[in-house]
Amino acid sequence: MVPLKRRKVFPSHAGNTGTDSSGEKVSKFPQVVLFLLERKMGSSRRDFLSQLGQKKGFQVEEKFSESVTHLISENNSGDEVRTWLDSQDGGRGRTAAHLLDISWYTESIQAGRPVEILDRHKLQEQQTDEAEVVMFSVPSYACQRRTTLDNHNTVLTDALSLLAENAELNDEEGRGVAFRRAAAVLKALPKAVTDMTQLRGLPCLGEHSLRVIKDVLENGASSEVESTKHSERYKALKLLTGIFGVGAKTADRWFREGIHTLHQLKDSGHSLNRAQQAGLDHYDDLNQSVTKAEADTIGEIVERAVLAVLPGAQITLTGGFRRGKLTGHDVDFLITHPEEGREEGLMTKVVSWLESQGFLLYQKITRNSYLEAKDGPARSASNMDRFERCFSIFRLSKVEKKGAKQPETLTENDVKTHAQENLKTHSHTSSQIQRVSGEEEDGSERKQPAGFRPWRAVRVDLVVSPISQFGFALLGWTGSKLFERELRRWAGHERAMSLSSHALYDNKQSRYLRVMTEEEIFAHLGLEYVPPSERNA
Ligand code: UTP
Ligand code: MN
Repeated sequence: MVPLKRRKVFPSHAGNTGTDSSGEKVSKFPQVVLFLLERKMGSSRRDFLSQLGQKKGFQVEEKFSESVTHLISENNSGDEVRTWLDSQDGGRGRTAAHLLDISWYTESIQAGRPVEILDRHKLQEQQTDEAEVVMFSVPSYACQRRTTLDNHNTVLTDALSLLAENAELNDEEGRGVAFRRAAAVLKALPKAVTDMTQLRGLPCLGEHSLRVIKDVLENGASSEVESTKHSERYKALKLLTGIFGVGAKTADRWFREGIHTLHQLKDSGHSLNRAQQAGLDHYDDLNQSVTKAEADTIGEIVERAVLAVLPGAQITLTGGFRRGKLTGHDVDFLITHPEEGREEGLMTKVVSWLESQGFLLYQKITRNSYLEAKDGPARSASNMDRFERCFSIFRLSKVEKKGAKQPETLTENDVKTHAQENLKTHSHTSSQIQRVSGEEEDGSERKQPAGFRPWRAVRVDLVVSPISQFGFALLGWTGSKLFERELRRWAGHERAMSLSSHALYDNKQSRYLRVMTEEEIFAHLGLEYVPPSERNA
């Protein structure tokens, strides 16, 4: 038992509480100052119980203060009470008061005196040396936080991300989001978590996530994460969804048919669509990270293509690379033109140019299907946006280092030379792109001895936006995915607005809010501006 500080002792008045000459309330048990927590108890029950105690001579305080020696609560855990204390002015989490269950109070009232505190009366909580523990606090929406790439808790966030990924592979979106939110909170902390008590009062950490974190902190790994990681199902679904064009549903169907490996898939005789076939053909390349240097090289090629077909158009690198990531799974570009309408029909021309130069191994354009409804955006089941978009696979030449020249920077001549090389060594581009499911590949990737292939395949997403929607498109395509999801949740729940990659609609004013920049969108949403490098939630 923690020794209590000695309290001011009031004279005891004939065994009853009363008022002394100075007007102060006098308690029958001066060492005992009680406080009843209203949380989960409710105010009327609290009033009733307080009066009951006072009649028996107990000092029951209305407000929590330093003088309280016994905090009584009903249906709260020790950690919940600590969290409540932490949330009080000045952070009262370090109080030395006993945190007790209501049973101690009712037994004391029955006994007519404070009964001895037994273990069963005490609220269970983590034991630590409070003085050494760093406490954290973060706002609850990821879009209110600044999350850089400097993650101090990678072991924990990797564990939670794996469970999120597994939930998504199993079509359990809600669980996936819960794990992603928990991971995002840890990513935003300024230091490594070393003790569970540091997490008190942090948002988005559900019971399950806390269990995983505790496991990792105490044992170095989470048994659930380890068993998931090594399960046949997780391994197979991850491998199969690693094929471009294969989603969780298809992978699950194949898995249930007994297809666990790429070999089994090839042998199964399943007809693959064009995207999946390309994904399989370039499996290894597409599962190898793209570097920033490669992204920049592709950026130069895309820029040449775009300027060749529409001078004055603007190209912006978006996605993870805009957030400062050094590697990515693909490269994302947003294309617009300062004059509204000039961007129409641009994608087809850009793609034709790239194709004619031999830069594309695969491409599929989806047309712009966005229409602004006068009465606000429809509640769409999917968050997919409706820009003119091209999913593509680039054939990226590996640039040799020549003298003092920057190896990854292409000159105009380099681009021309590479285009010629591309066409020379890869003259089947068009026919390969048009190839339908089931056909044999031309073998050009296979016949090259390993390590000598002068090019690699890279996934590239091109998106065309009219200038009037550019701010929204830029914000929407910069990510991270969780940051975007949280922005939309904030808009809907906190501001009664609907945000998409096309528009911001104010439901109260029943009108669209027009912007030119990302900054204006944050301002409309009542959020502090968060630069791309701090959106790595
Ligand atoms: P990505 O999936 O490319 O993620 O989507 P990323 O952050 O760049 O990470 P890596 O490195 O490639 O894995 C980039 C952004 O584009 C949005 C996503 O929400 C994300 O914010 N996006 C993606 C869409 O809006 N619609 C889509 O269909 C795909
Ligand atoms: Mn990306």
